[in-house]
Amino acid sequence: MKIYMIFTKKNSRNNMIKKAKLLCLLGLGFLMLNSCTEQNSKTISTEINKEQIIVENLMTRRSVRAYKDEPVPQDIMNVILECGVYAPNGMNKQPWEIRVVDNKDYINGITDLYLSDMDEDHPRNPKKDPNFRNMFRNAPTVVFIAMEPGLCSQVDCGLLAGNMVNAAWAYGIGSCIQMAPVQFMKSEKAKDYLDKLSFSEGYELLMAIGFGYPDEHPQAKPRIKEKIKFID
Ligand SMILES: Cc1cc2nc3c(=O)[nH]c(=O)nc-3n(C[C@H](O)[C@H](O)[C@H](O)COP(=O)(O)O)c2cc1C
Repeated sequence: MKIYMIFTKKNSRNNMIKKAKLLCLLGLGFLMLNSCTEQNSKTISTEINKEQIIVENLMTRRSVRAYKDEPVPQDIMNVILECGVYAPNGMNKQPWEIRVVDNKDYINGITDLYLSDMDEDHPRNPKKDPNFRNMFRNAPTVVFIAMEPGLCSQVDCGLLAGNMVNAAWAYGIGSCIQMAPVQFMKSEKAKDYLDKLSFSEGYELLMAIGFGYPDEHPQAKPRIKEKIKFID
C-alpha cells in the first residue's frame, strides 16, 4: 500500500518504469513463494502417501493358495525378481540362484510324480481337494531359489524372498513361500526335474515361491504382539 502511494504522487516516466519493475519483482516473489509453499506441501503429502502405501502393502500381503489359471507376465516378473536381488544380503555375496518356471508340462509333470508317491487314502492327499491344481499351492508361476551354503545364506535368501513377495503384492500378485516341496524335489524320484533347473555345482534348493493372480483373499493370521518388547 505504501509503495502504491509513493508512485501515484510522482507521475514521471522514470517512476512509472520503477513502479512496473517493482511490481514485476513483487509478482515474481509472490509466485516463487507460492510455488515453494505448493511444492513443499506436495513433497510432504507425497511422502505421507508413500509411507502409507508401503505400510499398507506390507500389512495386506497374505500367502495365497488359490490362483487364476494365468501365469505372471514376464515384464512384471522381471520387476519382482529385480526387487528380490536388491534385498540386503551379507557382504553382498548374493548366495542365491533363481529359476522361474511357468511351463505347465514341468509343473504338472512333477506334481503327477509327487502325487503318485502318496497314499490314496491319506486324509491329506491333495487329490481329495477339488480345487487342487499343483503341488506348489496351485500357483501358475513358480520361482525356485537355491543357495550356496554359508553363514548368512538362509537369511539372505529369506530377505530375497521377502522382497519378491512384497513387490509382487504391489502389482496385485499373490504368492506363497514354500519349503514343503523341497524334500520331494531333492529325492531321486524328482531328479530329472531338479536337473532341469540347472543350478550350479555347490548350490542346493532351499525354497519354491508360487506366484499368480489370487483367486482367494485370506484374512491375516493372528500375530503374537507380546513377542515384541521395547527395553529401557
Ligand atoms: C520359510 C517359509 C516356509 C513356508 N513354507 C510353506 C509351505 O511349505 N507351504 C505353505 O503352504 N506355506 C508355507 N509358508 C507360508 C506360511 O505358512 C505363511 O507365511 C504364514 O502362515 C503366515 O501367513 P501369511 O503369509 O498369509 O501372513 C512358508 C513361509 C515361510 C516364510
